[in-house]
Amino acid sequence: MFNSSDFSFRPILAAVSVAALLSACGGSSSSPPPIPPKSSSSASSSSVSSEASSSSSSSSSSSEFIAVETDIRLFEQAEFPIGVAVSAANEPFSIFNNTDGSDRRDVIVRHFSELTAGNIMKMSYLHPQEDTYTFGDADELVNFAKSNGMKVHGHALVWHPNYQVPGFMNNYQGDWVAMLTEHVQTIVNHFDDTVVSWDVVNEAISDSPNQGDGWRQSLFYNALPPAVEGDIPEYIKVAFQAARDANPDIDLYYNDYDNTANPGRLNKTLEIAEALQAEGTIDGVGFQMHIYQTYPSISNFENAFQQVVDLGLKVKITELDIAVVNPYGSATPPALPEYNETLMGNQKLRYCQVTEVYLDTVPEAQRGGITVWGLADNESWLMNQFRNATGADYDDVWPLLFNADLTEKPALLGVAEALAGEPCTTDF
Ligand code: G3I
Repeated sequence: MFNSSDFSFRPILAAVSVAALLSACGGSSSSPPPIPPKSSSSASSSSVSSEASSSSSSSSSSSEFIAVETDIRLFEQAEFPIGVAVSAANEPFSIFNNTDGSDRRDVIVRHFSELTAGNIMKMSYLHPQEDTYTFGDADELVNFAKSNGMKVHGHALVWHPNYQVPGFMNNYQGDWVAMLTEHVQTIVNHFDDTVVSWDVVNEAISDSPNQGDGWRQSLFYNALPPAVEGDIPEYIKVAFQAARDANPDIDLYYNDYDNTANPGRLNKTLEIAEALQAEGTIDGVGFQMHIYQTYPSISNFENAFQQVVDLGLKVKITELDIAVVNPYGSATPPALPEYNETLMGNQKLRYCQVTEVYLDTVPEAQRGGITVWGLADNESWLMNQFRNATGADYDDVWPLLFNADLTEKPALLGVAEALAGEPCTTDF
């Protein structure tokens, strides 16, 4: 199994304590050390700067941002993977094809030790037709990671949304176990040891986990329901067994959302974990953690992590973002947040506390890592989410570690402080 002590870290240029970096944040004009293979550009150029003009529809590129200047490399502060989800190929904000792709790559190489493809390693991207696999875009991403000493967490071998389920599966009349096994094994087998782990199944639990049997009635569920009443759906077992048989040396995760505070989702998550553990096919649980400033509570995280730790499995925060307000489900726009130092300080505190509770609760050997879901605020999926949920002509909830101009936010400092064992504060 992959474990954190096996993780290949890149050479450290200079060990810089958080205390040192904090002093560097006081407006110092000193530049951070050069980062191989290229020196960082925009992420290293600003010190704590002026407040943003917080217009509801202003384009991010025309705003000023609150930024900190650090000389750290985030991944060097941790003995476990520090990851980021990225766009690639021809996606918007692609780290390869976007006009600022080179700057994005510099920031990624500077701060992260693991990549997740935000989209391009999902089912239909890799396996569009029954007899066709397309690995070119994924290979470009994995090769970029490899050549920069990073690893890749695969996302996701089995996930239900219509748009990304391969079309042929919708009408599949053949042997589902054989087909799903071939799908999983062909993908797992394609990649070398740069891909150290996979979300084997994503979001198998119903959006209403306390209704009916609590399972999402997806294409996969309907094709392979629980073989025994009260058991988990058969397709989950088939997918994990296939992945395990294909490569016993990679870590296999079950991944879901809102499975920290929502007792129904947490219980179903644990049910899946225990059933797969009995078959020896799971290594860890992925907590997506698309959270916001006031929900869930830190004690919710602690409780959920602890229960997985008690099972002896790994805990991975797979998709962390922290919106500054509730970006979900409100028909009435909430009071619109104002991008200012108070807001950014509070978000820094929250990022620090999330990292801290992870460190405090999960023993070193069970830390699968922490991945943020996107690089810069303006590329986050939450931009659309917030607009769609509220109807507001307003689209920014600033959930990530970097501003739209790729400068470092106070939130990044919050993560670094927790990793260094510093107390969490709003100060920056
Ligand atoms: O690439 C096309 C682009 O060419 C086209 O112009 C544009 C027009 O809509 O669409 C682009 O594709 C979009 C893609 O993101 C890349 O940006 C898809 O429409 C859009 O549906 C897709 O959304 C992704 C979403 O999953 C659905 O798969 C988000 O980026 C991605 O962040 C989000 O990630 C999910 C995790 O996989 C699972 N957990 C929840 C998380 C957030 O929803």
